[in-house]
Amino acid sequence: MGARVIELENVSYTYGGGELLSDVSVQLQPGSFHFLTGPSGAGKTTLLKLCYGALLPTSGRLSVFDQDISSLDRDQLAVLRRRVGVVHQDCQFLDHMTLAENVALPLMVSGRSESSEQDNLTELLSWVGLGARLEAHPPELSGGERQRAALARAVILSPDVVLADEPTGNVDWEMSQRLLRLLIELNRMGKTVLIATHDMSLIRAAKSQVQARVLRISQRKLHLAGADL
Ligand SMILES: Nc1ncnc2c1ncn2[C@@H]1O[C@H](COP(=O)(O)OP(=O)(O)O)[C@@H](O)[C@H]1O
Ligand SMILES: [Mg+2]
Repeated sequence: MGARVIELENVSYTYGGGELLSDVSVQLQPGSFHFLTGPSGAGKTTLLKLCYGALLPTSGRLSVFDQDISSLDRDQLAVLRRRVGVVHQDCQFLDHMTLAENVALPLMVSGRSESSEQDNLTELLSWVGLGARLEAHPPELSGGERQRAALARAVILSPDVVLADEPTGNVDWEMSQRLLRLLIELNRMGKTVLIATHDMSLIRAAKSQVQARVLRISQRKLHLAGADL
């Protein structure tokens, strides 16, 4: 792996109206832990989408694993995305499939046989505390169970990077602490972690457990927040 997992150089983005993100430069080193914060509508989700190639910068350069994301074709982008696990803000599932099938979906899509990965799948689901819920269907799950399932699905392909978009958005404090511990554990296993959240108390809670940098979007710019959180 190169010296940087994700690097933005003077990246700007606009959906077509005014500029949402202006001249953003930041580097995420391998094994680092970052929070991305800022008020609702500031552009956190947009920035994460840029980091996994769902959106391309309007200007500037964005590289992932030292590859310029704008220069990749579809296949190259697909390969790169397997190394980037994403916990989406809405964590959608296919309701007619079981929890285990939903979490295993990225395996099938990437052409890996689900059966040979069965042990990994079971182990992963017990790690997030859903070992007894394998056969449940998504509509039966609580908010916390959905978030943990979404985390399991994001890491089933053993990505090097985990991007989590408001992973504690719809859960109580205790569950948010549990999700945070899982993300910290992933980081201790060597994964680079970036968590978008507007929850400052989550960030404060993390600071005693992990060395985290806090990036804040404000007025279209990305700032490195000070230690005074
Ligand atoms: N697909 C889109 N088309 C146009 N505007 C969008 C789109 N997605 C998001 N936006 C706008 O961009 C701004 C930032 O959105 P978002 O990145 O979701 O912010 P955050 O995650 O910080 O709440 C919001 O004003 C939102 O309405
Ligand atoms: Mg968002």
